[in-house]
Amino acid sequence: MLTVGFVGWRGMVGSVLMQRMQEDNEFVGIEPVFFTTSQVGQPGPDIGVDVPPLKDAFDLDALKALDVIVTCQGGDYTEKVYKDLRQTGWKGYWVDAASTLRMADDATIVLDPVNRDVIDAQLARGTKTFTGGNCTVSLMLMGLGGLFEANMIEWMTSMTYQAASGSGAKHMRELLNQMGGLRDSVASELADPASAILDIDRKVTAAMRSGSFPTENFGAPLAGSLLPWIDKPMENGQSKEEWKGGVETNKILGLDNNPIPIDGLCVRIGAMRSHSQAFTIKLKQDVPLDEIEDRLAKHNEWVRVIANEKDATIDGLTPAAATGTLNVPVGRLRKLAMGGEYLSAFSVGDQLLWGAAEPLKRMLKILRE
Ligand code: HSE
Repeated sequence: MLTVGFVGWRGMVGSVLMQRMQEDNEFVGIEPVFFTTSQVGQPGPDIGVDVPPLKDAFDLDALKALDVIVTCQGGDYTEKVYKDLRQTGWKGYWVDAASTLRMADDATIVLDPVNRDVIDAQLARGTKTFTGGNCTVSLMLMGLGGLFEANMIEWMTSMTYQAASGSGAKHMRELLNQMGGLRDSVASELADPASAILDIDRKVTAAMRSGSFPTENFGAPLAGSLLPWIDKPMENGQSKEEWKGGVETNKILGLDNNPIPIDGLCVRIGAMRSHSQAFTIKLKQDVPLDEIEDRLAKHNEWVRVIANEKDATIDGLTPAAATGTLNVPVGRLRKLAMGGEYLSAFSVGDQLLWGAAEPLKRMLKILRE
């Protein structure tokens, strides 16, 4: 039976992972050990099976005793512990939600409905380090997997509409406080149907720009606005989030030697936990739309092709519809005015499920096979 250590299980991604593992009864058949950075010796979580008291997440001897470590503790923890642990000679599996090790040569990015072949080949080669991918990348590949599988894509742009959860739990709270603050700034005007909308707008804008508007986490208003920059700058003008779109996609697909050009613009919007993306896809050939829809729909059991009609789109192709589900709706599928090789698409997906916890949960299951 595999002994599996969990680090960072109380955070947002970790909590979703715990919940999903319980839903699918996946604590049965492993020996789970829970780690903490602050509450050593306290009882472990109630997950339906007996677990020992919490162990110290920095105790290399305790970590060395494990077959698998699953960490959602974040990049700083990985930086502090991973190298030292490997240097002790530990040969266990490290499964990590953080981006720290993603592009390392000895790490494989996991998204098994898309790259099970790459994962299996790496396991056969003795690879021991597996990481989840960037959320927009994983969600894009879950939605468009059928086109990549058929090698139909010459290049692609992705314009994202990313939810607050991608920045963290505090950011989600701040977004709601910003929304509430805007509403409260015009409460009396909203109660009066005769009030002038331009007065309301002026007051809302003033509230957004005032020094008391809560922006400690985002650094700027997001509610009633948007932020067209995510993560650090790269040297070429891309944001790091935009850079990840190209490099991680090609690494996941095992195309490092012959990469598909993928680039775009990443934008934070006021959604809670589902990321959306608009794609312009240059196909290698003018493939009929019904064949494209068919390939997309058949690629995996979670993708949902949404008819390119208004009612179906606003019902099914939104963060409000996708959040909390494993479904990845893909729609707005049509050929663009530039020609039959140019395809438009739009996808949505829960950033904490397929975007973070689900690929790790499934990797742990693969290790048990
Ligand atoms: N970098 C992503 C975001 C989160 O900021 O939305 C997870 O990959």
